[in-house]
Amino acid sequence: MLAAMSQRLTLSRAAHLLGISRIALQKRIREGELPSFDGMVSVDELQRVWPQLDLDESGSFEKTRAIREDAFARRLRERVLPSQEALAQRLFAQGQELAELQRTLTRYHALFEALQARLAAAPAPATEELAQLLDEGLAQALAAPAPHADVSALDAMLRVMSAHVTVRPSGREFFVEGSETLLKAALRAGLTPNYGCGNGLCGLCKARVVAGETRAMAPSDYRFSAAEKAQNHVLMCVCTALSSDLVLEVLEAGAPEDIPEQRIVAKLRSVDRLNDDMLRLHLQTPRSNRLRFLAGQRVTLGLPAGVASGADLHAEYPVASCPCDDRNLIFHIPSPARRVASANSRGDPAQGFAECLEAGLVKAGDELSVWGPWGSFVLDQGSLRSLVFIAIDEGFAPINSLIEHAIAVDAAESITLYWASSRPGGQYLPNQCRAWAAALDEFSYLPLNLAELPATLAANAALAASDIYLAGAAAQVEPLATTLRAAGLPSRQLHIEAL
Ligand code: FES
Repeated sequence: MLAAMSQRLTLSRAAHLLGISRIALQKRIREGELPSFDGMVSVDELQRVWPQLDLDESGSFEKTRAIREDAFARRLRERVLPSQEALAQRLFAQGQELAELQRTLTRYHALFEALQARLAAAPAPATEELAQLLDEGLAQALAAPAPHADVSALDAMLRVMSAHVTVRPSGREFFVEGSETLLKAALRAGLTPNYGCGNGLCGLCKARVVAGETRAMAPSDYRFSAAEKAQNHVLMCVCTALSSDLVLEVLEAGAPEDIPEQRIVAKLRSVDRLNDDMLRLHLQTPRSNRLRFLAGQRVTLGLPAGVASGADLHAEYPVASCPCDDRNLIFHIPSPARRVASANSRGDPAQGFAECLEAGLVKAGDELSVWGPWGSFVLDQGSLRSLVFIAIDEGFAPINSLIEHAIAVDAAESITLYWASSRPGGQYLPNQCRAWAAALDEFSYLPLNLAELPATLAANAALAASDIYLAGAAAQVEPLATTLRAAGLPSRQLHIEAL
């Protein structure tokens, strides 16, 4: 029984092991190419379906090989390896599993020998034939190389290196690498757990450990009630996984209304120019006061008082970065010249803000206020449809956040990005889009002129079966949305952000 179990993997583990997306595995299962049993797949079937799979190219194998390389050993010990206690516990669990396998094999062996002896003691044509069959079968089994021993060994290695966490009630899964906290690992995987200070103080990140063991990485002043202690509650922001498999009960945000309004102060790290029209603003929040938001949402930014008298120092911008890195917030800010040229019908409180940034009136280390998050331009988590993102000019900012999140959570079988620009060279981060397309089989990137966009979309028959996320200036987004609806796209599949 144990031997059979050891050859089967959960979908998440199989995807993690082979360096492919979970959604790619699910697609093969749906299409009948890859059998699954109770949500598990066998190692033999994996290699049958991916015969060309080169483990040398999978991220997991790279990581394992890197661990063996002395030059990186110190860095890996510090950043990748779990704590000694976690390693010991996981190795002990594997040792127990191996010992049980050995006991099972010993019992089979004894049974086999007894059978051989009985057959030898009762020679007859039929039993002689049976004895010969057994001898030959045993010889063949012992001579044959172990099938896919490398995959099994790699899986065993990864079970020690990274813990697998299943979240209830959502059923979502993530991996804890090294000694990172449960909260950090969950955010990196695109989950939306409840949390606040990130520092063991507020108690908002409480989770109940249903199975497995955790370990606190730092002291915490938060006091659990007696009932919470009895129910095995832990703080995700200070605990890591001790055992290689954990089941947690976690409160997750499912919609924008689940995220509270926050006011925080963040430090300016840098203002860079992405091109003639666009600035990149990088803010960093304090460790103990991070911004909780969903990918695609906006916030209001306020410049420090006294930076420029008379200017409107507050403006609303989409967060361009992913919530998986909640301390580093990135914004794409159209330069003042670009904003004057654009036809923004809502008035333009951002003009003074952008002028102050461009004039260098705000310096690295200055404190800006961040208030929000706002808006409901977020991924429909319940949908399994393919994703089509349409960014017009700086509408790319919220789309960037959504794409990073969609990639982190393995949200769809395919992702298509159309980035339409109203002027030459308006796609201000082309290399990043090309890198996504190069790294992900299921990702397509199509840069184009705004004038080409309606005809290009009309020629894409797959749009009707996709979720479409459209962002840009209202004057450009609204007519396009009208066209898409008139073509029969259901409203629930069309998500719009008019900036
Ligand atoms: S205790 Fe505040 S987020 Fe964990």
